[in-house]
Order: sequence, then structure tokens, then C-alpha cells
Amino acid sequence: MPKLWEKGYTLDPLIERFTVGKDYLTDMKLIKYDVIASIAHAEMLAKVGYLSSEELEKLKAALKKLSELIDSNQFSISPDEEDCHTAIENFLVREVGEIGKKIHMARSRNDQVLTALRLLYKDQLKRIEKLIQELKNQLVQFSKRFGRIKFAGFTHTRKAMPTNFRTWSMALYDALDDDLRILRLVFELIDRSPLGTGAGYGVPAKIDRRFTAERLGFKSIQKNPIHAQLSRGKYEFLLLHSLSQISFDLNRFASDIIFFSLPEIGYLSLARELCTGSSIMPQKLNPDPLELVRAYHNRIVAKQMECATITSNLITGYHRDLQLLKETVLEAFEIVEQLLLVMKLIFEKLEVNEQKCRTSLTKEVLATEKVYELVERGTPFRDAYRIVAEEFGGE
Ligand code: ARG
Repeated sequence: MPKLWEKGYTLDPLIERFTVGKDYLTDMKLIKYDVIASIAHAEMLAKVGYLSSEELEKLKAALKKLSELIDSNQFSISPDEEDCHTAIENFLVREVGEIGKKIHMARSRNDQVLTALRLLYKDQLKRIEKLIQELKNQLVQFSKRFGRIKFAGFTHTRKAMPTNFRTWSMALYDALDDDLRILRLVFELIDRSPLGTGAGYGVPAKIDRRFTAERLGFKSIQKNPIHAQLSRGKYEFLLLHSLSQISFDLNRFASDIIFFSLPEIGYLSLARELCTGSSIMPQKLNPDPLELVRAYHNRIVAKQMECATITSNLITGYHRDLQLLKETVLEAFEIVEQLLLVMKLIFEKLEVNEQKCRTSLTKEVLATEKVYELVERGTPFRDAYRIVAEEFGGE
């Protein structure tokens, strides 16, 4: 299969394998977005006069065919094609001959990959947003069932004050609401079209960038072509940061559920079908899924670091380094999607042990309330505090 930059020499096979890496596989997730962007690009080329309407129709029909082949898993990118951008042009040349060679006018793989990635990110962000909403609904259900039940909350992993499961579950609800705001902010940044910025320095032709932006559903265009390239990596980092906020909140509540379902605490009990066992200790019911929710957060943070480091110390302009970001971000989306699904199931099946919660409310847990009662009856706060402290002797 020819490369887009084919010019009469053969690339060393080791270097070819090394530079392509897993890209020919990773790009299978990107290709449908590149096809969508190619259609908009072709329409723009026709609008500004680089393609006749007949040529445009042929290109569009071929791109539609390609998109059907992709949807039905009948298309693959061969490693020597390097990436989805090459695979698309090769397909077009096979399908419509000379006309296929016209598609790359006024674009570069650098703005192509940026555009396809942004379209993919926007879809993924919408999916994550939907899953967050579903988890939030599940939390409301949980709160309706168990919200009124009181238990001793902790500070420093020691019993502190009474709270209830409504306040506890709604804390995650509110945290997820914050995460949604962060996601939307990142969405807004991403929602600008880089198409037409070429290799990073614009293209020496009169094109209509607003037209393609509109066709692709971008809110606006990213004007400065150098900045468009620089935002690759920066936006990925922000994306991962927004995903890491979600995994962070889930990590904390996973830890809570592990702790609260510890038989010695016993506020919560985990459904058996969500627990795994031990190969040696027959009595064990282990909260492995929650431990993995906890651990995956650390992996997301590591991916965030990967983004930050891969993209630093580079001068302006495109660098092949950026290619490595694709896998990092795509994996992060997959992980966070799973975390949200798993936590929704956990909350669906989570039971509260009312008896254990009641017995957690020992009299020292009510110490602060007792102080406030004395204050209500006229004792200054610090005196009331000391009176009650004496009773409990610094437990
Ligand atoms: N696979 C490349 C990437 O993800 C596509 C762009 C290639 N551009 C280039 N100038 N080699 O960055």
C-alpha cells in the first residue's frame, strides 16, 4: 500500500514498525471521524472551486461506502499505510481513481488527526456525561431507600458525628455535578475546529474554514494555526484531568464502601454477586471490584502525567511525539466508562444494615450535639466544650 509521502525509496522495516507502532490499530477507532471530516472537507473544496460538483458526488459516494465498510467491520488499515488518513486516501484512489488524489488539497494529516480526535472526544464526552447522569439517578434511588438511616461519620478514621446516608450519597452526587461542569468546560475548549490549519502554518489557498466547522458541528474555529497544533496535548491533558476528577470521586466512595462494609463496621453490605472469593480461605467475600475502582484512578492519574510529559519540551509545531497520546486518552475513556458502570451497579445492589448503623451512634458520637445543647441553654461554647470533654476524657 502506498504511503502519502511515497517518493521512491523504501523505509527500513524496523523503522516502519517502530514509527507506526500500534497506530494502524488505534486509528481504527478514529477512522470514522476522519471520514466524516473528509466529507466536510470535500464539500468545502467544491464550494471554493477545487472540485466540480460531479467530483464531489463521486468522492462523497466513495466516503459513504467506506463508512459502511467500517461500520460492518469490513475495513482495516494495513501497517504499511501508517494511519487512517493514508488508508482513506488510498481507498478513495482505489474507488474513484484520479479524483481520489484531489482530496488532500488544503489539508495535512496534522490538522486531519486533530479534527478527527476532537470529533471523537466530543462523542466520548457526551457518553461519559450520560453515564454520570445514570449514576446520579442511581444515587437518588439509593438515597430514597436508605437516606434517612443515621450512622457515625468519621474524621481521621475515628468516629466523629452523626450523619445519614442521604447526606453521604448526595455528596457523591454533588461531586459528580462538579465533574460535569469541568467536563463541559473541556468540551467547550475542544468544540472548535482545527480543520484548515494544515501542518500547523495554515494553507496557501483560499479556503472556508467556517464552512467545514459548521458542517462538522463545531461551535467555532480555532483561528491561529500554530495554536491549533499546540493545543494537541494540552487539551488531552485537560481531558484526562477532567476524567481523573471523576475517577477520584469514585475512588473515594469505593474506599468508603470497602470500609463501611468491613464486618467490624458493618454499615453497608455488598451483594455476594459483586464479591470475589479466596482460593485458600473459604469464608472470604472480597470487595475486589471496589479495589479495582480505587486502583484505576491511579492509572488515570498516571495517564495524565503521561500526557503532561509527552508534550512538554517541544518547540512549536507538530511532532510525532504527539502520536503516543492517542492510546493514552482512548484507554482513559474506556476505563472511566467502566468505572461509572461498575459504581452504578454497586449502588444498585448496595444494602444498608440499619441495626449496625444505630449501634454506631454511641454516646461520644453525640458529644458535639451535647455541647450545642449547653450553648442553647446559655453556656459559652468553650466552657460547654470543656464540660463535655471531661465526660468523655479525650476519647
Ligand atoms: N499518526 C500521526 C499522529 O497521530 C498522524 C499525523 C502524521 N503526521 C506526520 N506529519 N507524520 O500524529
